[in-house]
Amino acid sequence: MKKIMLLGSGELGKEFTIAAKRAGLYVVACDKYDNAPAMQVADEREIFSMLDGDALTMAVRKHRPDIIVPEIEAIRTERLFDFERQGIQVVPSARAVNYTMNRRAIRDLASRELGLRTAKYFYAKTFDEFKTAADAIGFPCVVKPLMSSSGHGQSYVRNDDELEAAFHEAMEEGRGDVREVIIEEFIDFDSEFTLLTVTQKDGPTLFCPPIGHIQKGGDYRESWQPYHISDEALKQARHMAAEVTKALTGYGLWGVEFFMTKQGEVIFSELSPRPHDTGMVTLGHTTNLSEFELHLRAVMGWPIPAIHLEHYGCSAVVLAKEEADREPDYQLMEALKEDRTRVRVFGKPTQHVGRRMGVVLCYDELGADINLLRDKAKRLAETIIPD
Ligand SMILES: Nc1ncnc2c1ncn2[C@@H]1O[C@H](COP(=O)(O)OP(=O)(O)O)[C@@H](O)[C@H]1O
Ligand SMILES: [Mg+2]
Repeated sequence: MKKIMLLGSGELGKEFTIAAKRAGLYVVACDKYDNAPAMQVADEREIFSMLDGDALTMAVRKHRPDIIVPEIEAIRTERLFDFERQGIQVVPSARAVNYTMNRRAIRDLASRELGLRTAKYFYAKTFDEFKTAADAIGFPCVVKPLMSSSGHGQSYVRNDDELEAAFHEAMEEGRGDVREVIIEEFIDFDSEFTLLTVTQKDGPTLFCPPIGHIQKGGDYRESWQPYHISDEALKQARHMAAEVTKALTGYGLWGVEFFMTKQGEVIFSELSPRPHDTGMVTLGHTTNLSEFELHLRAVMGWPIPAIHLEHYGCSAVVLAKEEADREPDYQLMEALKEDRTRVRVFGKPTQHVGRRMGVVLCYDELGADINLLRDKAKRLAETIIPD
């Protein structure tokens, strides 16, 4: 029985672990706090800061996994190269995980090396550099720490007066010891979408139907599949996803994020070398295999005969409304009264305002009205944690 070490044990790791357990694999779930979602369904758990390289090496020595599956970005990723050299499979590859955890590495690869269309961007370490970059880009622009996720430290800057605060926030909120920011042209997009892409050891690169999504403050609120785009736009997005995942190397499922401009232009944004939060919509029977099942198959080198759309579906997140060292009092009755509706409660032991605690999934026949489904999912998501 192969042993998987999961680095990060949130809701995405929990679903991946369930898929792995169904296939008879052994899973050690790691995170910095106890009773994290994936730990509740794994064989063993390990609690330590994965940003601590020595603690990470110790855990790997202790458990001797065959496969290391990172679920989050906050990992001392340089160590993954050591593990790979020791013969452990790192998913999708140590190179991919290292590149994607730093906005500079992945943006330069996509834009400079591969020539993909991205927002205009500069980097800055000092306020002077930052100001010069903002002048070159114009307003509004977007500022982010080089190392961050889920919108942390990110802001929109509308004018000169807002520059200083945005710069300091991005400098302070960055993860780890990197004190540098990226400043980007604001893309006034029509919408954004994720292309779940699967790279395989022995097989072609596969794509799920695009997923539309809405973000607030850099964090995902709802997603739906399929997201309709023209054949030409889909071809471009697939080409970009195939190029960037090939350059990063390795096997697994990736969440490749794009902006669709009002003129119908597809712009590459960023990618996760792992299941994507917007891809939780696939838990609602949209595709024949969920993104977690696809990830597992690709990781294990198992066949994926085809990916096809079986239903139209939507996801809407359930957010915590208070700060508390306990779980909310979940109310599932309203949502469960509805046909073709699923609720996933992640089981996070504590709350803070806006923390993602669960998700509601609604689906219907192919060709259903996706806007009605989105409204339904959002309405039901509101009932799960009452005021
Ligand atoms: N250049 C941009 N123009 C417009 N919106 C942006 C831009 N960059 C980021 N955003 C918005 O912020 C969200 C989060 O940014 P992203 O670069 O994906 O960071 P994260 O790693 O935190 O997900 C995006 O999904 C999008 O909604
Ligand atoms: Mg993102």
